[in-house]
Amino acid sequence: MTTLTKLALGMMGALRPKPAAGDSATAIVLPPPAMQGGLPLMEALAARHSSREFARDPLSMQMLSNLLWAAYGINRAGGGRTAPSALNAQEIDVFVALPAGAYRYDAAANRLDLVAASDLRSVTGYQDFVDEAPLDLVYVADHTRMGLVPVAQRESFASAAAGAIAQNVYLFAAGNGLATVIRAWIDRAAIADALGLTHDQQVLLSQTVGYPGPAG
Ligand SMILES: Cc1cc2nc3c(=O)[nH]c(=O)nc-3n(C[C@H](O)[C@H](O)[C@H](O)COP(=O)(O)O)c2cc1C
Repeated sequence: MTTLTKLALGMMGALRPKPAAGDSATAIVLPPPAMQGGLPLMEALAARHSSREFARDPLSMQMLSNLLWAAYGINRAGGGRTAPSALNAQEIDVFVALPAGAYRYDAAANRLDLVAASDLRSVTGYQDFVDEAPLDLVYVADHTRMGLVPVAQRESFASAAAGAIAQNVYLFAAGNGLATVIRAWIDRAAIADALGLTHDQQVLLSQTVGYPGPAG
């Protein structure tokens, strides 16, 4: 779908998911993440960049597990995560839009739980590449977990936390031969609708991940 079509559909409130491709499993148990490999940190930083051309090839389950663990997995006893959050509220949920459905990442169970049995990649942003790249991540703040954060600061704190997750994804991508771009040019209402979010859940950002396309 072109950006112009998406903008028009978005204005009409008609940006909708496509039917799921393949079996929408209710849960996908991920293989244990491999916590080694990839480029050393300084080399990954040197390689980090945004890409807007993606191949359609899917990521293996192992690569997906590694990616999500790098993004926001549990990295120590007690449930600490790979990205910080104000007062350790851990208010961000990472949703994964795949051709077979949209899933919420459960870091503790290392599992993806189905939230929508449709292909809502195209709903995750106005840019055309989001439709065909193998996956789009969506970062959602759950305001019910931020009871200790003053109301006026909840959105900015959650956005900072989502930014840290996004940079984890950038560095993982740079270090593991993947392409990615963080995106704020998105239709938040359409995404919230497609994911079935409540009024306490706020869509912040989306991020496309895949293998580099022709111009990588
Ligand atoms: C908060 C934020 C929102 C962004 N939104 C978009 C977006 O909607 N679409 C897009 O293609 N790039 C988006 N970007 C990526 C920037 O365009 C990109 O980081 C910038 O051009 C610098 O390029 P680099 O990441 O390769 O260094 C966004 C970046 C940030 C930090």
